[in-house]
Amino acid sequence: MTAEPQPKVEIQPVKTPGDLHAALAIREVVFIEEQQVPADIERDDEDPTAFHVLAFVDGHAIGTGRLVERREPPEGEAGRWGHVGRMAVLVSHRKQGIGRRILEALEAEARARGLDGLVLHAQVYAHGFYKKMGYEDWGTIFEEAGIPHIQMRKRLRPADFEPDPAA
Ligand SMILES: CC(C)(COP(=O)(O)OP(=O)(O)OC[C@H]1O[C@@H](n2cnc3c(N)ncnc32)[C@H](O)[C@@H]1OP(=O)(O)O)[C@@H](O)C(=O)NCCC(=O)NCCS
Repeated sequence: MTAEPQPKVEIQPVKTPGDLHAALAIREVVFIEEQQVPADIERDDEDPTAFHVLAFVDGHAIGTGRLVERREPPEGEAGRWGHVGRMAVLVSHRKQGIGRRILEALEAEARARGLDGLVLHAQVYAHGFYKKMGYEDWGTIFEEAGIPHIQMRKRLRPADFEPDPAA
């Protein structure tokens, strides 16, 4: 028996208005059409300045996610934190490791910016995905866009980390 050929997945940062359009188009299919999230909640004023990535399979954009720097650290934490959100993989491409690759790319960007950690609002159904990626629950279940969510967070470096002033 021959093994199924694995699709070639590439993760790229969004650089052009065309890239952002592709990311928003994926979110439209996943959040607005599939999950019935109202369009005025799905799109927000963070999109023009956020760091977005696109996942491509055989040259087609099929997944996206974004990173936004928070103004303040979450309760009980210090330093600079980011917020991961709008993680979306087209249903035809789920459970093939693509969401993991998108999240790893957002975490790599957060580390490159020197962020101390990341928070996110996980849909309860996707809780297991984020747990596998090292995120811990934080708080209680709440509703957002009519969907149950839970806050999760992940430290990217130890709490007592002191940057080397000579570095
Ligand atoms: C959540 C989402 C981005 C995950 O993407 P994906 O490409 O299917 O995830 P991956 O294949 O990379 O999964 C990585 C691991 O998490 C697991 N996983 C994926 N989705 C899961 C889920 N809903 N519940 C529990 N585990 C899950 C996978 O089985 C895999 O485990 P393994 O490493 O042991 O094999 C995708 O399901 C999605 O787009 N959902 C709709 C939009 C959405 O709800 N986004 C999240 C908003 S908070």
